[in-house]
Amino acid sequence: MNTAVLISGRGSNLASLLAYEKANKANYRIVLVLSNEPEASGLAYAKENKVPYYVVPHRDYQSKQAFEAAMQVYLEKHNIELIALAGFMRLLSSSFITRWQGRVINIHPSLLPDFPGLNTHKKVLQAKKKESGCSVFFVDSGIDTGLLINQTSVPVLVNDTEETLAKRVLQEEHILFPKTLDQVASKQITLENLQTNKQSNKFTTN
Ligand code: GAR
Repeated sequence: MNTAVLISGRGSNLASLLAYEKANKANYRIVLVLSNEPEASGLAYAKENKVPYYVVPHRDYQSKQAFEAAMQVYLEKHNIELIALAGFMRLLSSSFITRWQGRVINIHPSLLPDFPGLNTHKKVLQAKKKESGCSVFFVDSGIDTGLLINQTSVPVLVNDTEETLAKRVLQEEHILFPKTLDQVASKQITLENLQTNKQSNKFTTN
């Protein structure tokens, strides 16, 4: 399935999606990378892998609608069927989400619904949680509020700093995201099925 990956920064999740695609008979094919940040270092992974990439700088547009319309042009031009948000730090409008209903997935570094938004690891440590993890979900127009697809948990250790916890979670993100994108691309998991079952298909990798 033709897939676009949207990034805003480092792009380590993009790298893991590309690596999985290369190493497996993946049901997705990354054919487009878009970044809203001109300086996103993750664009280097698109370049390395010869995937077409473009910067759509949100600050250059007068409205969210105009920004999303500019992205939509690229998505259509590249016949995109599925979108993976990999550290894409813009909230998408409900009209964009409605248009792409069930075809946009995102990853977040916490066990959602706990700790959506920014500064996740800091909040987890402040709350003295014994467990954290990562979640992949179908995107809706809220902040990290969409229907959960898969989660992996990791322990929070007594000496953890934001950095050590982030690293442990990120390792799991790099396993969970490609697997989940593959399952969604193969239609093994669909938004409709999840909504019907009303239970998320959780699994852990440790
Ligand atoms: C990842 O930890 C991802 O889960 C998080 O941003 C980071 C991007 O890293 N996403 C969110 O917080 C979304 N709410 P990357 O650019 O190296 O993939």
